[in-house]
Amino acid sequence: MNVLLTGGAGYIGTHTCVELINAGHTAVIADNFSNSSPKAVERVEKITNTKIPVYNIDVCDRESVEKLFSENKIDAVIHFAGLKAVGESCEIPLAYYRNNLDSTLTLLEVMKNHGVHNFVFSSSATVYGIPEKVPLVETMPTGCTNPYGWTKLMNEQILTDAAKADSRLSVVLLRYFNPIGAHESGMIGENPNGIPNNLMPYITQVAAGRLECLGVFGNDYPTHDGTGVRDYIHVVDLAKGHVKAIDYADSHKGTEIFNLGTGTGYSVLDIVNAFMKANDLEIPYKIKQRRPGDIAECYADPTKAKEILGWQAEKTLEDMCRDSWNWQSKNINGYE
Ligand code: WQD
Repeated sequence: MNVLLTGGAGYIGTHTCVELINAGHTAVIADNFSNSSPKAVERVEKITNTKIPVYNIDVCDRESVEKLFSENKIDAVIHFAGLKAVGESCEIPLAYYRNNLDSTLTLLEVMKNHGVHNFVFSSSATVYGIPEKVPLVETMPTGCTNPYGWTKLMNEQILTDAAKADSRLSVVLLRYFNPIGAHESGMIGENPNGIPNNLMPYITQVAAGRLECLGVFGNDYPTHDGTGVRDYIHVVDLAKGHVKAIDYADSHKGTEIFNLGTGTGYSVLDIVNAFMKANDLEIPYKIKQRRPGDIAECYADPTKAKEILGWQAEKTLEDMCRDSWNWQSKNINGYE
């Protein structure tokens, strides 16, 4: 299939593009490069030895999206494009609602005009809000604690209602847990703008000497060592989950939700220690106050994805730590 990846120049988009091409699909990328680099696409082309059509557009812009669909026969869409910083979403909620919801509505309208019916959406475990219990199952209650999370949940609702109203539409909602790691080549990886919000890129930038010391946000949570527990999943495993999701969407109708996690939770200190061990590096850290909005524990029950998609994460925590550092050490300043 020829797959449109909106936000395809981003961290998860580039890794998914590689795995789609490895699986025999072709790809078209739409990205406004507001939080990514055209260089990342060049690296994907090198890895896959494939030329990839790239449209530097805002997927909220109807005319641009129409032009892309009239110039390419698209069989499926994976919608990654969106604003995704939890803290920032609290400062500029209207920009998050406008961008993250308009893009989905525009894509659905243009897809309908062009007879495209397969839609895979980049959702997030954040839609579970403060979980009543773990591991998290897709049928558990949802509810968000920040505008970013609400845009993900609202998009899930928009897509679910659209599929109810149009029996030709096939929607797969993928709830990501915490993606880390990088392609084994070290040519593509996580490249956040400014000071990283997320744990692993902060660690790798400390290791690279770009940042001095890691702040551990709280060690008084009710977890095995007091620090926050999350389900870290290798970005290549996550990318392979999208290949399975595209194939599933092409052979089913309606809407299906899948957790994409490993089913294992690791604490912040587990990650720091695993990173130091895997790479034989010291990571200085200081215990700090809890970060507002953080939860104690969050990890997946990935049974449904295994049983229905035939997908499960395969890479180890050591793989994730080694590959994260392999990317950063070869690209101290990211794609610049
Ligand atoms: C992980 C753990 C922190 C940074 C977020 C979004 C989620 C998804 C993934 C988009 C927590 C601790 C972190 C640091 C730390 N993004 N931490 N020091 O918050 O689980 O999820 O990213 O979809 O929607 O909410 O990921 O990497 O920020 O934090 O101690 O400098 O590391 O407290 O326990 P999070 P994270």
